[in-house]
Amino acid sequence: MRERQLPAIWHRPMTVADLDGVLALELRAYSHPWTRGNFIDSLAAAYTAELRLDGAGHLLGYFVALQGFEETHLLNLTVASSAQRAGHGSAMLERLQALARQRGDHALWLEVRPSNLPARALYQRAGFVEVGCRRDYYPTDQPQREDALVLRLGLDAEGYGLGERGQDALV
Ligand SMILES: CC(C)(COP(=O)(O)OP(=O)(O)OC[C@H]1O[C@@H](n2cnc3c(N)ncnc32)[C@H](O)[C@@H]1OP(=O)(O)O)[C@@H](O)C(=O)NCCC(=O)NCCS
Repeated sequence: MRERQLPAIWHRPMTVADLDGVLALELRAYSHPWTRGNFIDSLAAAYTAELRLDGAGHLLGYFVALQGFEETHLLNLTVASSAQRAGHGSAMLERLQALARQRGDHALWLEVRPSNLPARALYQRAGFVEVGCRRDYYPTDQPQREDALVLRLGLDAEGYGLGERGQDALV
């Protein structure tokens, strides 16, 4: 029997069976991580949820997004701490943009903590623009909550996007 060849890096839909691995990354990545229930609810609601895996099947990262009317809302984007700064976050954003364009969406939306400088740098580099602020949106370890910056990426401009490692590319 011929062995099945896996690409070096690939994506597949997240399932409930993946959640132990997903939660292991999630718990390391965030001060206030999603719970197993948050992921189960997202999968049950048929949100777009994909894993990014290496050729050996190791989990590099994942994203979860909600499809609205002609727009997609990114809810969770996480890269394993051991795999950060290697282009995987950008590549998952690329993948999500491509999926959103296929649906005919006009925009991608997300929220990010002002204190999350790596994520803000990633989104800025991908072309997202800050369009608003939700006051006291996120929990913190302090009594006060943290605002959320609301970011938008327009998808109507023909083929705009950042390629792997941030090079300009047509999507
Ligand atoms: C934010 C996150 C998804 C970025 O993923 P990543 O795979 O490391 O990002 P990339 O390698 O694609 O980086 C692309 C660009 O983003 C910016 N960037 C990413 N991480 C950065 C960091 N730690 N410091 C400064 N800039 C950073 C850089 O401009 C980088 O390009 P460069 O490496 O050529 O300088 C990842 O750090 C992560 O999972 N963090 C924890 C979870 C999280 O905060 N998710 C986002 C919630 S809104």
